Amino acid sequence: MDPNGTLFFPEQGSTIASEVDLLFHFVLYLSIFFFILVTGGSFYFAWRFRKKGEDQFTPNISHNTSLEIFWTVIPTILVFIIFIWGFKTYLKMNVTPANSMEVNVTAQKWFWTFGYKEGATTTNELVVPVNKSVKLLMSSQDVIHSFFVPAFRVKMDVLPNRYTSLWFEATKTGEFDLFCTEYCGKGHSEMIGKVKVLSDAEFASWLASSSGPSDLPPAEYGKELYKSKACFTCHSIDGTPSVGPTFKGVFGRTEELTDGSSITVDENYIRHSILEPQSQVVKGFQPVMPTYQGVLNSQQIDALIAFLKTVK
Ligand code: CUA
Repeated sequence: MDPNGTLFFPEQGSTIASEVDLLFHFVLYLSIFFFILVTGGSFYFAWRFRKKGEDQFTPNISHNTSLEIFWTVIPTILVFIIFIWGFKTYLKMNVTPANSMEVNVTAQKWFWTFGYKEGATTTNELVVPVNKSVKLLMSSQDVIHSFFVPAFRVKMDVLPNRYTSLWFEATKTGEFDLFCTEYCGKGHSEMIGKVKVLSDAEFASWLASSSGPSDLPPAEYGKELYKSKACFTCHSIDGTPSVGPTFKGVFGRTEELTDGSSITVDENYIRHSILEPQSQVVKGFQPVMPTYQGVLNSQQIDALIAFLKTVK
């Protein structure tokens, strides 16, 4: 197996990847071998014992004990090998090493949020150190999603109202694709992210610089949040209508709401819309925005408001 990936497999980026691939290939080539043996045998016997003439009959063989034992015992042994091998790998993937670093994962329509106990949060980008086992404690704010990193060979459903977990240990630095693999609505195919694996030193400095309050000017910090918190998925800044209203010229605009009333977009309306997005929905849009309660702190909401004032 080429660790950099083959036609069939993405590169191997975690400790478990080569084990999963080896088992997969064992099952694959074993199946190919028996497929050829069985179909080849069928064709051969059909030809070998074809009808040759009116009074020529094949001998009447009722059974052959040693042959029957042979073709029962060999496959049974093979099935046991696959079961025991698969079960051991399964256990290994399911038992999180005790010294793992823990990251909280929140899935919602349609992005991922990662929370570190040091205080950093990221959106659609999971940053981890290399050669260290990482435990993800995952839950969903709305529907069922599924966390999948092909290069790590790990996948786990992410459910509302309960936690699921998963662990991996990245074996090389770099960026790896992260996908949602449970159909979760209109934006499912856009619910993609990256896993960024850094060296120990890079990770430590990333964590330190991401955990404190930002010292960017509010409007610039807000612009960064607009990108990093994936607001752009639903709100354009160039006037194009999307899942939600465009942010172009939003501040000070008068909007008609779904209940027929109208409102002028000010600081309070924006803050309210971020924390309780379903309560005052602009006419013509669906109430699909998730709450950012607990995702954005008040400094970040202030920064977003400052940014929205600049989008003209
Ligand atoms: Cu989340 Cu598909």
